[in-house]
Amino acid sequence: MQTKQPIPFDPSPGLIGIPDSNIQRHLGLYHGYVKRFNYCREDMPSASACAKYGLLSQVNNECNGALLHELYFSQLISGGRASKNNAFWMFVEQAFGSVKAWQRNIIEICHTPGPGWAITYHVPYVGGMNSHVKGHSDGVIVGGEPLLVIDLWEHAYECYATKMEYVQALFANIDWNVIDVRVADT
Ligand SMILES: [Fe+2]
Repeated sequence: MQTKQPIPFDPSPGLIGIPDSNIQRHLGLYHGYVKRFNYCREDMPSASACAKYGLLSQVNNECNGALLHELYFSQLISGGRASKNNAFWMFVEQAFGSVKAWQRNIIEICHTPGPGWAITYHVPYVGGMNSHVKGHSDGVIVGGEPLLVIDLWEHAYECYATKMEYVQALFANIDWNVIDVRVADT
């Protein structure tokens, strides 16, 4: 069985408005998801039937926790970087009618209480869609390809007065070219 290795990215230091200490702690949590994902898979073959049921649910959670964090961290760059080809902006214009309409909708989703993620997806045969994932797994769209991924767990915004301050800081550090590549890969 293949062991998952953590991706060695480190968007800090220098994200604007996001303390390095916050990013370092957050990366530590990401490593925890990868570790527990591997533990679950190692334990599965020898687990009792009862333990296996628990592991089956946990392994999905740990896997999504790791993968969503990878999408999240890999889209960050200090001060953000403007799109060169506008692929994502053209995508949302088509899917939502305008960039403003997409933005209003994703911000509205960011207000959803409780831990989770706000995600803009490309969904085959549907087009663009913003959605909320509760936890790491509840509400993930089957076949949906995540384009922009926003962590809404408390650990992501604990150092801000409000969750929206964090979302604003996050938007100031997005490399839109990374998002454009995800659009091109759909
Ligand atoms: Fe997180």
